Amino acid sequence: MNILVTGGNGQLGRSLSKISNKFPNHKFFFTDLPESDITKEETISEIVKKNDINAIINCAAYTAVDKAESEPDIARQVNVIGPRVLARICKKYDLKFIHISTDYVFDGESNVPLLETDSCDNPIGVYGQTKRDAEEMIALAGIDSVIIRTAWLYSEFGNNFLKTMLRLAQDRNEIGVIFDQIGSPTYAPDLACAIINILDLGIKNGCELYHYSNEGICSWYDFAKEIFDISNIDIEVKPLHTYEYLTPAKRPKYSVLDKSKIKALGIQVPYWKISLKTCLNELNKQ
Ligand SMILES: NC(=O)c1ccc[n+]([C@@H]2O[C@H](COP(=O)([O-])OP(=O)(O)OC[C@H]3O[C@@H](n4cnc5c(N)ncnc54)[C@H](OP(=O)(O)O)[C@@H]3O)[C@@H](O)[C@H]2O)c1
Repeated sequence: MNILVTGGNGQLGRSLSKISNKFPNHKFFFTDLPESDITKEETISEIVKKNDINAIINCAAYTAVDKAESEPDIARQVNVIGPRVLARICKKYDLKFIHISTDYVFDGESNVPLLETDSCDNPIGVYGQTKRDAEEMIALAGIDSVIIRTAWLYSEFGNNFLKTMLRLAQDRNEIGVIFDQIGSPTYAPDLACAIINILDLGIKNGCELYHYSNEGICSWYDFAKEIFDISNIDIEVKPLHTYEYLTPAKRPKYSVLDKSKIKALGIQVPYWKISLKTCLNELNKQ
């Protein structure tokens, strides 16, 4: 298959690039701003035609959750109009479409793992609302597509919680981290493998929705502690309540995704601490 990956310079896009050599039966075309803006239909159509593309994996997104509160129009342009353009192209050229969504489509108030069928009537903040609107649009686009919701994405690439912790630890001996928000970290290369596995299983019969994160649950505090423990970094981690670290956008209290549906396909879901070790090993090699 010839696969177009949009947002190819982001952390998921770069993770797909990293694992692409495990899938020699596919040819990947990685694109990103400024050359290929997903909101520009003509640009993306040209790439699709020129490279005889069979599937699009949309990793492009406006992911600045806090900034989205003051830039709702820009967030909407990238997170809703962009996927709409891609969906239209998929319909026109009969392409398979894989789109990535988020735990922020939920209200964050659950206390049991979230199912694909659970209500998304009250997404968290502007970012969550734009991602939910895109999900609804794709479901109605009349194309063969898969939407994968993920959460707490990290990797050796780009900016993420793990890299922030390692950076802050360089010049501090104490750090405060929130302990009353619960979720599951997701190592982006694990998600990247799951995406290609799903594509290989075949996408047909409209739009299918799946949840994917690593296995196990933790708080941000536990995540930070584990990062420092594995890395042998001697730093005091102080537990903070959410109200002690206020941000422009609200954060989910609980965003554990139930992965039964994707696991039933035979997709691997590694335990988060194992994948964290892999990521830290990869960072040490750099
Ligand atoms: N990060 C998380 O914790 C998390 C959690 C749940 C779900 N997700 C979802 O997972 C997906 C991948 O996230 P990520 O962490 O890999 O995001 P990321 O690192 O922010 O990468 C997004 C990429 O998209 C590019 N982009 C932005 N606007 C674009 C446009 N109009 N046309 C083409 N490319 C554009 C960005 O370029 P610039 O950097 O130049 O803007 C960036 O390279 C997203 O759908 C996100 O919503 C992420």
